[in-house]
Amino acid sequence: MPVLQYAQMGNTFGRLFRVTTFGESHGGGIGVVIDGCPPNIDICDAEIQRELDRRRPGQSKLTTQRKEEDRCEILSGVFEGKTHGTPIAILVRNKDARPEDYVEIARKFRPSHADFTYEAKYGIRNWQGGGRASARETVGRVAAGAVAKKILPAFYSEFEIVAYVAQIHEIIAKINRSTVKMRDVEQNAIRCPDAAAAKKMASLIEQIRGEGDSVGGVIECVARGIPAGLGEPVFDKLEAELAKAMLSLPATKGFEIGSGFTATRMRGSEHNDPFEMRGGKIRTATNNSGGVQGGISNGEEIYFRVAFKPTATIAHEQKTVTASREQTKLAAHGRHDPCVLPRAVPIVEAMAAIVLCDHALRQKAIGLRGRWK
Ligand SMILES: Cc1cc2nc3c(=O)[nH]c(=O)nc-3n(C[C@H](O)[C@H](O)[C@H](O)COP(=O)(O)O)c2cc1C
Repeated sequence: MPVLQYAQMGNTFGRLFRVTTFGESHGGGIGVVIDGCPPNIDICDAEIQRELDRRRPGQSKLTTQRKEEDRCEILSGVFEGKTHGTPIAILVRNKDARPEDYVEIARKFRPSHADFTYEAKYGIRNWQGGGRASARETVGRVAAGAVAKKILPAFYSEFEIVAYVAQIHEIIAKINRSTVKMRDVEQNAIRCPDAAAAKKMASLIEQIRGEGDSVGGVIECVARGIPAGLGEPVFDKLEAELAKAMLSLPATKGFEIGSGFTATRMRGSEHNDPFEMRGGKIRTATNNSGGVQGGISNGEEIYFRVAFKPTATIAHEQKTVTASREQTKLAAHGRHDPCVLPRAVPIVEAMAAIVLCDHALRQKAIGLRGRWK
């Protein structure tokens, strides 16, 4: 039944800025089709490549040693350095595939990976490198995010987005959210702008890798220069869209916006963000709301945090079962990230930019509603 099949598909995200990713970790390639990009936006391969290079494996000794070059090819929708309003297709061919690394997991389900659930759902699975569940799928998201990052400043001249590692395991960084810049984030391989914390995080990851184990942590993201008015109540509230975007990323376990779970330990008198006039605009004196109230941006910084779990594939021997339902043990081999966070920073930024771009277009489509454009 084709209609039912269509209803099941989960490979497209967004309403007006529509992003469809395709590909598996070890197939011919991976990529994205972006529909709804406005015409006349300047974009070149190098701008997309820069973002992909931030996501790429093998960037430092702290990440997986897979050596993917991840060269992007823009197949359509861009001509003479400008978007044409037609679908943009971007392809990255897979190069460093070593299916032999995955022979054992062809039979054994990796604890806390997607092997068992993919097989339970589809009755068949591509066991090479995690197939569609692999974080390689996020190549397409990062490419689409690079395009979204070009559109947003065309709408909002002060737009800026920065994500960074805020915590690895129990090491918590001290970061001034309101002043942090991308160059501060990119100063070290961890992508944590607190240099002292980054050093400790790097040695922890090295130690954990040596022990054949893994760790997780928290990425924080801040978007500046978004005016009041973005978000579509009730089901497409801005924070609901950001939460879905973030929790659709592999290895994510939690999302909180603004004060998040801390709000549960505060009183209304402490938590409310009082309104005040500043620079001729309605502003809030504090920002526990994280820049979103009633599902709509209020013109303040939008900030949120995403929890990532420790990488599932580890060299530690663990209990598991085989595809033929026999109890067994697995100590995984192959090249895995002992901590996914440094590479997840550009992915979080990309998904946030995609959500904001989609909602910017939705707000434009509605016309000059409200006074806050
Ligand atoms: C940047 C990045 C790199 C990742 N690398 C690995 C990896 O090397 N090994 C692994 O087991 N999981 C890795 N993951 C996570 C898995 O893809 C993910 O845990 C798996 O698909 C199961 O999905 P779930 O954790 O969302 O339930 C990575 C995730 C991200 C964001």
